[in-house]
Amino acid sequence: MTNRSFLFFLPTKTFFGVGVTQGIGELCAQKRVMVVTTGLRRTGILNRIIREAGTPADLIVFDEIEPNPTCESVDKGGFLARVNEIEVIIALGGGSALDAAKGIACLRDEREELLDASSGIRSYLSGERAFTRRHTQLIAIPTTSGTGSEVTNVAVFSDPANRLKKSIVSPWFWNDYAYVDPELTLTVPDKHTAATGLDALVHAVESYWALSSTPFSEPIALEAIKLILDNLTQGYRNPEDRVARTNLSLGSLMAGIAFSQTRTTILHALSYPLTVDYHLEHGFACSVLLKPMLQTNAPLIPEKMARLLDYLGSPSLDALLERIEGLMQSINAPTRLSTVGVQEEELESIADQTMRSPITKLNPKSFTREELVDWLKEYR
Ligand SMILES: [Fe+2]
Repeated sequence: MTNRSFLFFLPTKTFFGVGVTQGIGELCAQKRVMVVTTGLRRTGILNRIIREAGTPADLIVFDEIEPNPTCESVDKGGFLARVNEIEVIIALGGGSALDAAKGIACLRDEREELLDASSGIRSYLSGERAFTRRHTQLIAIPTTSGTGSEVTNVAVFSDPANRLKKSIVSPWFWNDYAYVDPELTLTVPDKHTAATGLDALVHAVESYWALSSTPFSEPIALEAIKLILDNLTQGYRNPEDRVARTNLSLGSLMAGIAFSQTRTTILHALSYPLTVDYHLEHGFACSVLLKPMLQTNAPLIPEKMARLLDYLGSPSLDALLERIEGLMQSINAPTRLSTVGVQEEELESIADQTMRSPITKLNPKSFTREELVDWLKEYR
């Protein structure tokens, strides 16, 4: 029983399964289409999607998105979408392509006078401005199992010149459509399978333990945790295992839906300085301290933990912690900050940046800055 009021809201029409992307033909017919993507030309996936788009009036491909999309490339994409009067944007790729497309679509539709007076996406990242509209249709087609961006209203952008990585949450960032086809993930290399799979696992775990969790988000997060724990090692070792890949795709989608309702918590806040300053892949940056944070949070949420252990068939918290450790070792993921080059004297700066992120407050364990520094020292 819950005595809290809550909202469940997901405006994205979501399709899951092999071959579902054929549905984009209807949406793209006679429209001016832009595909925002990363380096997928070699895999044949881009050609498949262009074929399935059918007969657009015009189609351009913007493939200049970096692993952590920068303000510059998002601004450039927005400009191209504007001058080409794009009506439909297809985001094809991992989290970077999906996040970049959200910014590009909103910049494409921003009022001319506001855009002229702004410094592009930077003005929105700093909080100086907020998007107020979007007419361009946004279709997300993820090619990794991790981001969840296809079903969230969040996008993360980087501003390397100012050593900044930050998220924007906007009601205009919900995709109109998401097409999740597990077959598109078969060519993901093993290291990337590991990082994106752990990202999805952390989305699910953080959504589950978040103070903002709801009776709708919790069961979705539980199933996502189970699907990812049960299948990640197999998907990593046998990339073409369709059962494992399908379960990972579903787990990632469900994790995305869960955290779209709750947001993530302190592990994602910690991940931002780790990716900016230590160039750690996002999924490794948010999972490196998963095990100790679960250990720290568990006594504060005894009922939730009991349900989690029961759902996973885990005899005790220690057994679950061991399972997570074993999974991370099996896919060569880092489990200590010291192994990724973080020095003890750098922990204060990491703690400062983490404390500034509002999602830190959604973690069951509430840290003061000093407590967080001590905690990081203990688990470095
Ligand atoms: Fe993430």
